[in-house]
Amino acid sequence: MKEKNGKVYNIDKKKKTYDKMNFTLDHPVRVEFGNGKSNELAKFCGLYGKKVFIVTMQELETLGLLDNAKYGFERESIEYTLFSDVKPEPKKNDFNDAVELIRKGGYDVIVGFGGGSCIDFAKALAICATHENDAWSYVNLSSKPPDTIYPQKVLPVIAVPTTSGTGSEVTPYAVIINPDTIQEGTIKDPSIYPKIAIVDPELMLGLPKKWTAITGIDAFSHSLESYFNKTNRTSFSDMICIEGMKWIVKSLPKAYQDGSNLQARAGVAYGATLGGIAISLAGTTVGHALVHPTDARIGTPHGISVSIYMLSVLRHTLPVDIDRFSKIVRIINPSIDHNQNGFIEKGLQSIESFISQFDFPRKLSDYGVSEEMIDVIVDDTISYMFRPLNQHVKKFTRGELRQIVIESY
Ligand SMILES: [Fe+2]
Repeated sequence: MKEKNGKVYNIDKKKKTYDKMNFTLDHPVRVEFGNGKSNELAKFCGLYGKKVFIVTMQELETLGLLDNAKYGFERESIEYTLFSDVKPEPKKNDFNDAVELIRKGGYDVIVGFGGGSCIDFAKALAICATHENDAWSYVNLSSKPPDTIYPQKVLPVIAVPTTSGTGSEVTPYAVIINPDTIQEGTIKDPSIYPKIAIVDPELMLGLPKKWTAITGIDAFSHSLESYFNKTNRTSFSDMICIEGMKWIVKSLPKAYQDGSNLQARAGVAYGATLGGIAISLAGTTVGHALVHPTDARIGTPHGISVSIYMLSVLRHTLPVDIDRFSKIVRIINPSIDHNQNGFIEKGLQSIESFISQFDFPRKLSDYGVSEEMIDVIVDDTISYMFRPLNQHVKKFTRGELRQIVIESY
């Protein structure tokens, strides 16, 4: 019992249950989710103007994924430019041509159409095409504050994902690599929340099996890591994380086995969007703190780097929050009893078998990485990713981080 202002309050002794029930919920993205929704892209662009800059990849155009959108623009008399030169994992200097086109053309809205790289590219472009400096200047590393971003200048972005992974369609983040410093960093600014996210599972039907798995594991990791964010997590973000993991666990194996299963595609897309909301409310932690330097140093696709560290990070984290670990295990295999002997090993095995059903190598050494790189990755992580490190539920020493990387080698 506690007395305050003459009133007596009953405070539950299990304070831990309630300690995250004091928060602000502000998520500004309008989500249009459902089969066929991308056919309405022109209509949504029309809310922001009559001149549209579409950022995509050549292969998506070749596959015909943009055909319906193009008819829509013609039908609605909306002028558009297609910029289809985005490459995977955008680099600092990849933006120059697009910046020039936007500055000359006077566009009203940018559409990011494709995987996370296309959407991140569109978001970063919305800033650097309307500001003076290059995209990297606006990256917010733990060791480097960003240049000033003027929100009123940033162009509106509409995001249309064709993969279910990064959740970039609902986040204020854009990931960029700087080849000069060999760093991967993130622009983090509310001004680049897409105005509208059009999540259409039909666009994901053609995603190859391997990429379905790699991007899906990234989506799972966003909910998983946000669930362990001791600083920013709230009761609300926890709910999103749990739901996000459930949908990926339920749907990803089916989408992987049969890419034409539209229901499974919708389930993975929903899980990935929830994962994106999770990282915008709470944020990734140690897993991604290691992943960003790994992406930059080794060039592994982001989802592969994520899967390399996931189990080892969990193994080293679970002693400090066995309750959260057991909730994750229950999502993957509800038949494992957390009172059972050997629960921890069985739990870890269940998570490992969930990941290993997707057939791609998950060790650093599988990607031709030399042993010397172990210390380089650890040093990078400590030097410019210390914020997500510090938000993790367990504070790792350099030695423990090194051990995680060694186990993932
Ligand atoms: Fe990620």
